[in-house]
Amino acid sequence: MSADSQVMRGPRAASTTPALPVHVAEPVVRALSADVEPARMSDWMDILQMVARFFPHADELELRYHLCNQSACFHAARVGGTLAGFMHIEPKPENHLMWLNMIAVDEPFRRHGIGQKFMLLAEQLAREASLPRIGLRVLAENHQAIELYRKQGYARVKETREGPAGLAYLVMEKQLVAGQPDRSASGAESMDPGWRRWINRLYYLVSIGSRSPLRGRRTS
Ligand SMILES: CC(C)(COP(=O)(O)OP(=O)(O)OC[C@H]1O[C@@H](n2cnc3c(N)ncnc32)[C@H](O)[C@@H]1OP(=O)(O)O)[C@@H](O)C(=O)NCCC(=O)NCCS
Repeated sequence: MSADSQVMRGPRAASTTPALPVHVAEPVVRALSADVEPARMSDWMDILQMVARFFPHADELELRYHLCNQSACFHAARVGGTLAGFMHIEPKPENHLMWLNMIAVDEPFRRHGIGQKFMLLAEQLAREASLPRIGLRVLAENHQAIELYRKQGYARVKETREGPAGLAYLVMEKQLVAGQPDRSASGAESMDPGWRRWINRLYYLVSIGSRSPLRGRRTS
């Protein structure tokens, strides 16, 4: 019976016959809504898991350094309560640029615009720090990431070969504003005050160190 025929039978019939639930078709693919915000310490293990899976050349010491000394440079994308992705971005005023060090979105959450959200946040942070460009380095064979960057207006600056295997990387940049950079802008190191760095180190030592999925991984 259709919903229309229920209505046409009128109120008397409706009181004796329970109304059938009206079925509203749901879209098969729902758009994901991700919140992007500064990462919390409770995200660190999930971040490290993603790094271990998506950055085979990442180094434990380097990650530990970044988490403990630049925790404010990590941003998280959350879908519901789940960490869907993260970005690590470092202001480098000495080079007049914002450096996009890492960006990753977990597989189930890809192609929903989270990568683009991170890139827009990166631009906003660069502008707030008066840095006139954003730079990044990407494996030359990482076509999906290169496509994301190209779509956001990044252009290839140079190609480099790095590490013992001589892997090919592209350095890409996006110019944000013309004019002089702000020479008083502060770098990534000053984003975590001294007391925060001590708390971070303690937390890493107690909660992360022995369980880190990058444990023992050295690339350089
Ligand atoms: C690269 C990455 C961050 C993209 O995240 P994402 O949330 O899926 O990206 P978005 O949904 O915002 O995609 C934006 C655009 O990028 C391009 N893109 C993203 N993934 C792509 C893919 N697999 N193939 C082709 N183009 C792709 C598309 O143009 C896409 O726009 P569209 O979906 O409208 O076509 C994600 O694939 C990832 O985490 N990869 C592993 C880690 C990594 O390689 N990081 C970069 C290291 S430098």
